[in-house]
Amino acid sequence: MISVVKQNVVELPTASFDSPKPFLKWVGGKRQLMDHLVAALPAHFNRYFEPFVGGGALFFELQPVRAFLWDSNEELIDTYITLRDDVEGVIRHLKRHVYQKEHYYEVRAKRVSRLSPQGRAARMIFLNRTGFNGLYRVNQRGEFNVPFGRHANPRICNEQNLRAVSKSLIGVDLRATSFEAVLKNARKGDFIYLDPPYIPLSKTSNFVAYQKHGFGLDNQEVLADVIEQLDQRGCYIMLSNSDVPWMKKRYRKFHIEKVSASRNVNSKATARGHVGELIVTNYR
Ligand SMILES: C[S@@+](CC[C@H](N)C(=O)[O-])C[C@H]1O[C@@H](n2cnc3c(N)ncnc32)[C@H](O)[C@@H]1O
Repeated sequence: MISVVKQNVVELPTASFDSPKPFLKWVGGKRQLMDHLVAALPAHFNRYFEPFVGGGALFFELQPVRAFLWDSNEELIDTYITLRDDVEGVIRHLKRHVYQKEHYYEVRAKRVSRLSPQGRAARMIFLNRTGFNGLYRVNQRGEFNVPFGRHANPRICNEQNLRAVSKSLIGVDLRATSFEAVLKNARKGDFIYLDPPYIPLSKTSNFVAYQKHGFGLDNQEVLADVIEQLDQRGCYIMLSNSDVPWMKKRYRKFHIEKVSASRNVNSKATARGHVGELIVTNYR
């Protein structure tokens, strides 16, 4: 465990932009836990790494200057890259989309390889904002298969936010890669926030099929090994996951805080509700 002196005010290396917000609704999105996460940050750190970036809620909250945002979902990372490099092109494409069932299924059926990067990014944002529950789910062939969602007047194109997002991504290292890559890049004093797909609370209760290949306990075990190596190196680690006995046992040498958040990842409405989550840090 690293010991850091906590100050009353957390000093963050931030840049000043219009405040960008996550532009995707992402399963496991961290907006509800934000106050707990911010309160659990180390007082100082060098560079910011988020190897399971998803919707990037903590990144957008902090806007650290030197950031590495990675995820194994290539389409997601391509969307970040295109938004950073040509936000006006993405906005132009996004404005062509309408909230309408037939249009949704037409867009969903499009071969992404035939679209321009701007068209692909706009498709991803459109499907995310109008599909069921903001899920990202693909079939065995890697095709997006989330059904049309019922929303009251969904906002498909928030131009102002997309421009703010684009600015906040300038200079950010965006990579489609698996989380282990962090071992090759992180150095002493860097901060690494890890928010992997959650360990299911029961066999049916949780949604982990973000990708063709799920994230099983074997992956959680590899992640725990990676975290130990980063700890030895002197990195600051913060990890969020569900409150299950395996977590408490595997991370017993670290500091564990229990928090509560409402989850919306089960298709049965009755199964939605408050679940326990853990925030693990190697400092206090
Ligand atoms: C719980 S979500 C992250 C949510 C994010 N913190 C947010 O605020 O939206 C987990 C993410 O891990 C990604 N992922 C799954 N397996 C991965 C792997 N092996 N390496 C890196 N990312 C992975 C998924 O694509 C998904 O975006």
